[in-house]
Amino acid sequence: IWEDVPMAKPDAILGIAKEYQQCTNPRKVNVCVGAYRDENGKPWVLPSVRQAERILWEDETQTKEYLPIDGDREFVQCAMRFAYGPDVPLEHLAGVQTLSGTGACRVGGTFLAAFWPNHPIYCPNPTWGNHITIFKECGLDVRRYRYYDRANNGLDLSGMLRDLQKAPRGSIILLHACAHNPTGCDPTIHEWKQIISMIGQRDHVAFFDCAYQGFASGDAEADAAPFRYAVSQRVPIVLAQSFAKNFGLYGERCGSLSVVCGDAEQKERILSELRLVIRPMYSSPPRHGSSIVKTILKDEQLTKQYYEECASMARRIQRMRTKLVECLSTMSKHDWSHIKRQIGMFAFTGLTPDMCHQLTNEYYIFLTTNGRISIAGLNDSNVEYVANAIHAVTDG
Ligand code: LMR
Repeated sequence: IWEDVPMAKPDAILGIAKEYQQCTNPRKVNVCVGAYRDENGKPWVLPSVRQAERILWEDETQTKEYLPIDGDREFVQCAMRFAYGPDVPLEHLAGVQTLSGTGACRVGGTFLAAFWPNHPIYCPNPTWGNHITIFKECGLDVRRYRYYDRANNGLDLSGMLRDLQKAPRGSIILLHACAHNPTGCDPTIHEWKQIISMIGQRDHVAFFDCAYQGFASGDAEADAAPFRYAVSQRVPIVLAQSFAKNFGLYGERCGSLSVVCGDAEQKERILSELRLVIRPMYSSPPRHGSSIVKTILKDEQLTKQYYEECASMARRIQRMRTKLVECLSTMSKHDWSHIKRQIGMFAFTGLTPDMCHQLTNEYYIFLTTNGRISIAGLNDSNVEYVANAIHAVTDG
């Protein structure tokens, strides 16, 4: 009966990661998926995460019972504090635990499609490819606003502001809270203020996707500034949070979705509807990742340790970013300084799809075909090799 089922196209990011796994060449380099690797190219479990797991292991009261539909309440409160800081009252935050950032976007998008109907969602151009699919699957009308100026390798602020102004009143505006994926190009705080002011003037809803809190500046507090500022300006906020990158909890699928509400009564109504979105989707979230995050954030000492570990990942990436640009400058006639200006896990190189294919086919360097390189996959043993290969495909 399944004769007519076509073969689907591989995923633009995870499909390439699979090709990398299958490649047998010892020189192969994985700069495809945004997942942190240590100096030896290995996944890193943060020592604070290991410590939290030891605490949980020894705690005989821990069970494997189902979590409530909206997740572990203590975890959600810790996640909200981590994101919003101490000033936003928890009674005004309708927060639920989600399956990482993807799940948060999906739950948030479904909620908006039902309770803010007939309003398009505007995504930056470019954005993380999965955003488009997620929001279409939610039934939202997905549109684009100008974001990245390829000619100048920087933010197209005036194009962005014009598009936000032209968008129908009450549109949903998707914003990457920090470390924009794939461009690594973030507005300055001054530019954020102009963006948020335009969103406010047009009565838009700001949907922040916060997948890299701590990875941009190395300071999780500073990285939250754009949406904390938006909250202070009373712009309606929906926030998707992922703990995949900053806590290294990729496979644990740990995240949260929150809606900033006017009062506690509104919060309860929104929470009740979010539960109705979640129940038929996956019933309730997994408990291991959220138990880890909660254990860390409830303990002052472990939190301090965690912040330092997160900052150390950001520092290593920053060092590799600088080294890649330095290596390229010694050999290439092109200007690669934009890579140094970018922030977060990725470099948006400007390489064409053909050049990306050549890097993969001839040099076994696996990257997405939009020219994005995950800097986290670079280390002292492969950065020169990657720079040489980039030079070969651009100048050769
Ligand atoms: C990425 O952009 O590489 C990550 O967010 C992983 C993913 O799920 O695409």
